[in-house]
Amino acid sequence: MSSISIVGLGNMAGALAGRALAGGHAVEIIGRDPAKAKELAAALDGATVGAAGAVPAGDIVILAVPYGSAAAVVGEYGDALRGKVMIDITNPVNADFTGFVTPEGSSGAQEIAKAAPADAHVVKAFNTLYSHVLAAGPAEGRPLDVFIAGDDAQAKTLVSEFIESLGMRPMDTGKLPMARTLENAALLMLGLVAHSVNHTNFFLGINILD
Ligand SMILES: NC(=O)c1ccc[n+]([C@@H]2O[C@H](COP(=O)([O-])OP(=O)(O)OC[C@H]3O[C@@H](n4cnc5c(N)ncnc54)[C@H](OP(=O)(O)O)[C@@H]3O)[C@@H](O)[C@H]2O)c1
Repeated sequence: MSSISIVGLGNMAGALAGRALAGGHAVEIIGRDPAKAKELAAALDGATVGAAGAVPAGDIVILAVPYGSAAAVVGEYGDALRGKVMIDITNPVNADFTGFVTPEGSSGAQEIAKAAPADAHVVKAFNTLYSHVLAAGPAEGRPLDVFIAGDDAQAKTLVSEFIESLGMRPMDTGKLPMARTLENAALLMLGLVAHSVNHTNFFLGINILD
């Protein structure tokens, strides 16, 4: 069992918190509006509420805010994130879904890592799962694939164990710069929604053939 802190009170925060509680983890919810955080924690049954800007209780801190707020939120926590394993779930896509708002040659995860304390370890994960798909869990008996990228092997092991405990399959894709590829996978999903699948009830998965 891990202890998980989730910063954000929206769709992904709720879905991840629900799955983490079902997986037997201690879950702390942190939002900028304490009343709203309390409301979400009460709805989740078993989650606690943490104070924004204070040291999160979790060994793993999931950043479940829009990319546009992410670096500022990380900056607000500052040293409170020292030594934490941080999961970046953001998709830094532009308004018309044709590209990214991040600097050329970087990724959302790398920009977030720059804003974090040097000894925090950022792992990209969960960005290719729609919140309702995540909340629903295994699809037709098949575990959801969660692609991860990160530089620190121990942090990736911890995140992989967390993903497995949620009944999902971690798929390591390499070091943190691979986050850009995972963010491109989210663009792929948006393209599929707009041009062929026409809804969001699907997930990207890997079929491994013998
Ligand atoms: N939705 C999906 O299916 C999905 C899938 C994969 C990845 N993602 C990524 O997951 C992240 C969260 O998405 P979401 O759909 O959960 O968004 P959401 O429902 O809009 O929730 C965003 C949350 O972030 C909080 N927030 C925004 N700015 C903040 C700030 N400066 N300080 C503190 N909290 C702040 C909001 O707080 P308030 O409640 O106070 O407004 C809200 O609770 C995004 O980066 C998105 O790209 C989403």
